[in-house]
Amino acid sequence: MESKGEDDLGEVVEPSSSSIAEKMGTATSIRSSPTPIAGTPIEADVANSGLPSPNDDMSMEVPSDVFKFEKENGRTYHGFRPGTYHFPNDPTETDRLDFQFEILKYCFSNRNYFAPLKNPERILDIGTGTGQWAIEIADEFPSAEVQATDLSPIQPSSVPVNVQFFIDDAAEEDWAVPPAYFDFIHSRVLVGCFENFGVIVQRAFHYLKPGGHMESQEMMSKPHCDDGTMLSNWPFLEWSRYIDDAAEQTGRPLRIANKLRGWYEAAGFVDVQEKMLKIPMNPWPKDRHLKNLGRMQEQNIVSGLGGLSMAYFSRVLGWSKNEIEVYLVDVRRSISDRDVHAYHKVFVVWGRKPFDHEVKGKQAEPPSSEFTFQAPGPSTQPTATM
Ligand SMILES: C[S@@+](CC[C@H](N)C(=O)[O-])C[C@H]1O[C@@H](n2cnc3c(N)ncnc32)[C@H](O)[C@@H]1O
Repeated sequence: MESKGEDDLGEVVEPSSSSIAEKMGTATSIRSSPTPIAGTPIEADVANSGLPSPNDDMSMEVPSDVFKFEKENGRTYHGFRPGTYHFPNDPTETDRLDFQFEILKYCFSNRNYFAPLKNPERILDIGTGTGQWAIEIADEFPSAEVQATDLSPIQPSSVPVNVQFFIDDAAEEDWAVPPAYFDFIHSRVLVGCFENFGVIVQRAFHYLKPGGHMESQEMMSKPHCDDGTMLSNWPFLEWSRYIDDAAEQTGRPLRIANKLRGWYEAAGFVDVQEKMLKIPMNPWPKDRHLKNLGRMQEQNIVSGLGGLSMAYFSRVLGWSKNEIEVYLVDVRRSISDRDVHAYHKVFVVWGRKPFDHEVKGKQAEPPSSEFTFQAPGPSTQPTATM
């Protein structure tokens, strides 16, 4: 048993107020205060009636738990809805998330999405992390309003004017916008975040305008191999079984990528497309693009291994920090073995919410003046494997 020190479980870290201000910047705000039950009158703040004056206090009350990061085994974790997400939110992990964004962009041949978008007006990114996707999509569609949510305030403050970050839990039923609000809802690498990602897909369907699109981009945690060079005792494969098992025990599975298509269809999406791509574990492939991709992924996994492992192995499997670090030495080394031709499968799935007249038994509604619907073009992306 390790002695209790600053790295032990459960310590709460409150960033200094200046770092809070830096993190909040102007772009991230909180929208997770409890939603009033329908029919409950909301009491007006009489001290704040009439038109705003320049002397009004415009500061926002930030629930302190958002910034009370939990420190555990030398890493920090989200303080809002603590314990629900098992990967850290410290600079080591946020740097890795930014790098992973570049890897996926390279893997997708510089695309940020595959859905056939046509001038979307309102876009949502669920579990945005450091917000790189939301920022790039806001630049690509400067007239769109881009919202992005996360449990952690880890987004930059200097962002395009049309992007807004919110601290919010996507597992909540109420996403604090009216139904049929968004033209495009995006999610990426949300493994281990939710008890049932199928329910999140259903909720996204509810908040999409008819004709709007949803797209999810997810990686399988288990590596694959097509030529028999990955033996069943390869340390990284064993490691992936451990974290898969730990995630199952928490009730928030990692294995969601290959189930996306079924969830989309069950939710009612049409024109559902699935694309499967491969990211090599290291630069073992001959092909130049895949070699580069493998080089990037090797660096991503090697540098992220500690953060990806720590909470699952300690909180769920009951290992000490020391045991975990000793175990990871071999796992880390195995990632770089060029003789093992392993790769991760990445699934990209997108679909369209049908118009009322396309849904059997549903009456077409007269066009609303509030929302302008954009008819999507034909889905031309084939289902492809590499
Ligand atoms: C692996 S990161 C991916 C971030 C981003 N989508 C990307 O591709 O870089 C997963 C993110 O989901 C967030 N998250 C986890 N559970 C969530 C929830 N219930 N609601 C909103 N965000 C959540 C985490 O805080 C984390 O930033």
